[in-house]
Amino acid sequence: MGYETILTAEHGDGPLKAGVVTLNRPTQLNALSDTLMNELGDALRRYDADDGIGCVVVTGSQKAFAAGADISEMAEFDYVQAYREDFISRNWEIVTTVRKPVIAAVAGFALGGGCELAMMCDLVVAAETAKFGQPEIRLGVIPGAGGTQRLPRAVGKAKAMDMVLTARLIDAAEAERIGLVSRVVPAERLMDEALAVADQICRLSLPSIMLAKECVERAYETPLAEGIRFERRIFHSLFGTGDQREGMAAFLEKRAPVFRHE
Ligand code: HXC
Repeated sequence: MGYETILTAEHGDGPLKAGVVTLNRPTQLNALSDTLMNELGDALRRYDADDGIGCVVVTGSQKAFAAGADISEMAEFDYVQAYREDFISRNWEIVTTVRKPVIAAVAGFALGGGCELAMMCDLVVAAETAKFGQPEIRLGVIPGAGGTQRLPRAVGKAKAMDMVLTARLIDAAEAERIGLVSRVVPAERLMDEALAVADQICRLSLPSIMLAKECVERAYETPLAEGIRFERRIFHSLFGTGDQREGMAAFLEKRAPVFRHE
């Protein structure tokens, strides 16, 4: 697509493939510049609209998933500029509007905006080398891409306060223990594992995958009773799909289902 700061590729041999976005500013440890976030948003929107794509993997390099928002771009901001340009909301929030699953495959540093970007994704597969942190406090600011909100929801107040107030980095083992990441794998297996998760999702019924994602997201937005009601309505609606007929018939006939995503 002629991107400057990301690479894109498709992976898989089924009818639905995984879109793979690799953050690619290696000399700046994938610092999340405005251009990079515009390009990431563009790639995610394209994959979301592409009928041949079932989910997306976002990854970085072995050294860094992303070392944060680009400090050299932010250093001279003033308040009015940050506000008028709608800094962060304008392009970063696109990640949270993707309706297909987004998997973060994280090796090395995921700091500041990098940790926040990982938390915007649906699953995080981490290499044993991954290090997560919210070190913005050392720069005289605070997390600005959802860190103060998503981190406590993911790991609870005690660990979130520790990370946000002291800038302590945590390793992959601790991140898994406290619920920040889904799985930890050896560094050399990171992409194989993340793509295996992606392939598994791509083989399932896309409407049920998308609706399942929407339901889990709803858990963060609503009281329990409303969330349960939402889930129940979605669950009922899936009996209107051909994929429900196929999935249950295949189970009863002891064969693999062939989902048509309808
Ligand atoms: C711009 C960055 C950068 C960043 C690293 N670099 N992080 N440039 N923005 N966030 C650049 C360095 O300036 C350096 O460029 C090159 O990448 C390599 O980094 P080094 O520091 O030399 O590497 P190393 O010694 O291995 O240390 C790695 C590191 C350190 C521990 C990750 O780079 C670091 O502390 N980075 C900043 C982490 C941070 O504070 N992130 C939060 C950002 S604020 P040169 O040209 O010198 O080679 C944030 C706000 C979020 O994210 C709110 C809105 C999203």
